[in-house]
Amino acid sequence: MRHLFVMDPLERIHVQGDSTYVVMRTCCERGHEVLMCEPRHLFAREGRAGAMAQPTVVSAIPPHFQTDAAIPVNLADFDVVWMRKDPPFDMDYIFATYLLDMVPPTTVVVNDPVGLKVFNEKLWAMHFRELHPPTLLSRDAKQIRAFVEALPGKAVLKPWDGNGGRGILQTQKGDVNLNSIIEVLTLDGKQAVIAQPFIPEIRQGDKRIMLFDGEPVGALLRVPAQDDFRGNMHVGASVQATELTARDKEICDTLGPALREHGQIWVGIDVIGDWLTEINITSPTGFQEIRRLTGKSLEDELVDRVARHVARRRNTA
Ligand SMILES: Nc1ncnc2c1ncn2[C@@H]1O[C@H](COP(=O)(O)OP(=O)(O)O)[C@@H](O)[C@H]1O
Ligand SMILES: [Mg+2]
Repeated sequence: MRHLFVMDPLERIHVQGDSTYVVMRTCCERGHEVLMCEPRHLFAREGRAGAMAQPTVVSAIPPHFQTDAAIPVNLADFDVVWMRKDPPFDMDYIFATYLLDMVPPTTVVVNDPVGLKVFNEKLWAMHFRELHPPTLLSRDAKQIRAFVEALPGKAVLKPWDGNGGRGILQTQKGDVNLNSIIEVLTLDGKQAVIAQPFIPEIRQGDKRIMLFDGEPVGALLRVPAQDDFRGNMHVGASVQATELTARDKEICDTLGPALREHGQIWVGIDVIGDWLTEINITSPTGFQEIRRLTGKSLEDELVDRVARHVARRRNTA
């Protein structure tokens, strides 16, 4: 099989924790051909998506990545194109998805670029009303304030397009900083924020459940550090093994058909207590942590699954 990974520059990849790295390594170990490029190396000519891509060999031994000079490639000549650029989900990201739209159906794109463009990680979760905390999305200071004041307990405010826990704040009725927090987070009314009840179960952790083709395949719990409430690993949360509860399974069963319908093959959802908070489709991670906690190799399982997708596409072509 031939794989193209569209990703961040290699110097930004931390081999101790990166999921893209272990998938690339798995492909190489199986003798597959691997090339990589950044989104800025994509182009289109006469309606066909192309890239200036570097043949790459990925191994467990430093320097981990060995790349050759970039060569022009046609994306249609790959079995799989992996879109693994990390957020921000900005215009550059969306631009890349338009180019990936030009890849013919004989190539599997992980994840389907139409879905990547249409669904936002935080806002898509809001469509599943019975799974998502009762949330306000607004840029109106009065409305946000009223929402916070009507809650019996604490509130969480966060940027609608944030990631990595950046800008996530706790507040409540009577907080003398509330107006100021709203001004700062909405950029004086220019940007929408997400307002939610504070979910106290965050003390036990923010659960990341990995789904392949809409089916849960592994999970881990990110437990906030003592002095923080954010369950993001790079702000100091630690990881723990975990099991799926009946509610987690219900969430997965509800989301599964939508993920499959829209070609979202590799997805990581976030669940706090009983609530789905995010559907991460751009670049979900956690394989290395799950492997350390459970011994399970999701990278192997994913490459197997994607190979089955490739075989099916070839048969129908
Ligand atoms: N409603 C909430 N109640 C309690 N904690 C929350 C809530 N929303 C977010 N958090 C905290 O902030 C962290 C990051 O939130 P999330 O919505 O996943 O944004 P990000 O994309 O920045 O990771 C969570 O792991 C959790 O610790
Ligand atoms: Mg998150």
